[in-house]
Amino acid sequence: MEGKRREEEIRERFLKVYEQLKSEVLQDPAFEYCPVSSHWLQQMLDYNVPGGKLSRGLSVVETFRLLKQEEELSETHFFLASVLGWCIQWFVACALMLDDVLDNSVVRRGRTCWFRLPNVGMIAINDVILLWNHINRILRNHFRNQPYYADLLDLFNEVEFQTTSGEMLDLLTTVEGAKDLSKFTLEQQQRISRFKTAYGTFYLPLSCALLMLGQKLDDYTNVKDILLDMGIYFQVQDDYLDCFGDPEKVGKIGSDIRDFKCSWLVVKAMELCNEEQKKLLCDNYGKEDSTNVDIVKSLYNDLNLQGVFAEYEIEVYEKLMNRIETIPSESVQSVLKSFLSKIYRRNK
Ligand code: IPE
Ligand code: MN
Ligand code: MN
Repeated sequence: MEGKRREEEIRERFLKVYEQLKSEVLQDPAFEYCPVSSHWLQQMLDYNVPGGKLSRGLSVVETFRLLKQEEELSETHFFLASVLGWCIQWFVACALMLDDVLDNSVVRRGRTCWFRLPNVGMIAINDVILLWNHINRILRNHFRNQPYYADLLDLFNEVEFQTTSGEMLDLLTTVEGAKDLSKFTLEQQQRISRFKTAYGTFYLPLSCALLMLGQKLDDYTNVKDILLDMGIYFQVQDDYLDCFGDPEKVGKIGSDIRDFKCSWLVVKAMELCNEEQKKLLCDNYGKEDSTNVDIVKSLYNDLNLQGVFAEYEIEVYEKLMNRIETIPSESVQSVLKSFLSKIYRRNK
């Protein structure tokens, strides 16, 4: 249990950094905070930023430590890596708050979606933009004098662009699929996942840690491709858990069937079903009513999609592991293996 204790300790120290960043944001001299706005911002931050697994944020700290090959990071290094980790968590919060509005979701991280709170509503949109702005302000406060400052800003801008473009593709594909379900292909599902999820999930944390070490991810051939494929795998798991996960564990209520999403499950179903089943799928996918949703779910069971997914997961794990072992740098290998082992067969 040594490792567990250590993990908890790191999480606690990481959360302390959040408290500091929160108070900096609340005391931003560029705005005249009054009790009402200060209270709003505080509630909004606490509700949306520190919840969830914090895996992306924490992975910057762990990655930096592994790459530096140190047992324990110095106070300064721990702090700076944590600040970058929190910038990623700020970014994730923005993406999810907006995604919940767009997907008309109900629950996130075990709580009502922010925009659904009676006194929030569409103020949530402005909150997203405000959080988005915080990232640049936090980076300026803590990294302005670092030689890699411009690269950091550029990295966050790129990933924000990729994620937003991925969300656009997700939403537009939904509209196209509603006209014709055969538009849902594995290739399209992968393209959506790469942009909306993969860049922000694994590419961003490793890039942040490398920049702190004066290096760039582009200098590591193959690593970027592995990270992006791992991110696609992560989104396939998300698609799977949307239907087959336990909402208590996942912290959200699935809605991909109702929302007509180009999910990995519907793509697989389209690949495997006969003409009769295809008609059933087309007639019932993307309908609000729970009877329609249940028909789709029982079709997924008839097609044994749980078994198909289990096989996919074993295969993708082995393939990724083999590719990781071709990476020359041992420490980069250990980072990638740690990422992969944390998500393999996840249920939340
Ligand atoms: C959205 O994908 C990913 C981003 C927010 C960038 P999903 O719509 O599948 O995410 P969940 O299931 O609502 O978390
Ligand atoms: Mn969503
Ligand atoms: Mn999802």
